[in-house]
Amino acid sequence: MASALASPELKVDGLIRDLGTFHGKMLRPALVLLVADALGGIQPLHHQLGAALELIHTATLIHDDLIDDADTRRSRPTAHVRFGNTTAILLGDYFYTHAFHLVASLRDPHLTERLTATTNIICGGELHQQLAARDTTITEAEYDRIIYGKTACLTELAAEFGAAQGSATQRQAAARFGAACGMAFQVVDDCLDFSDDPEKVGKSLGTDLECGRMTLPVIRLLETAGPRRAEYERLIGDRQGSVLLAEAIRSGGALDAARQTARQHVDLALTALEGFPAGPARDRLADLARFIVARDF
Ligand code: IPE
Ligand code: IPE
Ligand code: MG
Ligand code: MG
Repeated sequence: MASALASPELKVDGLIRDLGTFHGKMLRPALVLLVADALGGIQPLHHQLGAALELIHTATLIHDDLIDDADTRRSRPTAHVRFGNTTAILLGDYFYTHAFHLVASLRDPHLTERLTATTNIICGGELHQQLAARDTTITEAEYDRIIYGKTACLTELAAEFGAAQGSATQRQAAARFGAACGMAFQVVDDCLDFSDDPEKVGKSLGTDLECGRMTLPVIRLLETAGPRRAEYERLIGDRQGSVLLAEAIRSGGALDAARQTARQHVDLALTALEGFPAGPARDRLADLARFIVARDF
């Protein structure tokens, strides 16, 4: 990642180096490398693909934090807080374009096509989420399409990139595994947004309700609200109302119900893994899938 982002301009390079001193869980590169390990072995290409996907992911986070008005990411102040909105927008673009160039420089049109098609889906998913804000008629199927777009299509691609040397059946199993992990990951992330421990999670929390996001915990609350549904609907997207809504979500069964759905996605992921050869890499992939729902950060 560092060599892909390096700039000959000292001012630009200084900013990039500073950002490179902290990172997150590296879930997407971990998926590429673990799947590669399970299906034929890790090659230098996998490191480059893992780096490119992490660059795309980081670009989305830089822009997402500006959109969400979030002030903490990876336990540090967000890019727009530190450098201002304009620099954060340009920085997110810088990460996107360097990811595209990194993959294009591998001179395999199929890889470039898959990366750019996936980035189209991510941007479409983010746009869809924005247009669906405060829509109390949203269905779970529409929520699923949004989180597939913003999150799961990238983890799907990570597993697919890792499986390049596997058989066609293994590549399909890898893609199913990656997509199901991503769905579970975003559902759990949507639950963690109601956590009362932002230090543990390392990022600003509670922004989803403030932005009127119709995440699965909100959908589960509305589904089971009975006569209180109209009252809850009025609170959606209202800054003060979001405190009351968050209380209702935390005190009722909405979070447990949403986590139950995340566990179903993880079960699908574990079933997909049955198409992989047994061994330590497959075991670690199973651990990773289980970690997604067990995590509290
Ligand atoms: C946060 O992703 C955004 C989502 C897709 C939910 P991560 O939780 O993977 O963020 P980092 O990379 O570990 O910081
Ligand atoms: C954004 O989702 C993740 C992207 C794929 C851009 P969130 O808004 O839920 O991510 P966090 O919670 O800020 O990390
Ligand atoms: Mg956010
Ligand atoms: Mg979130």
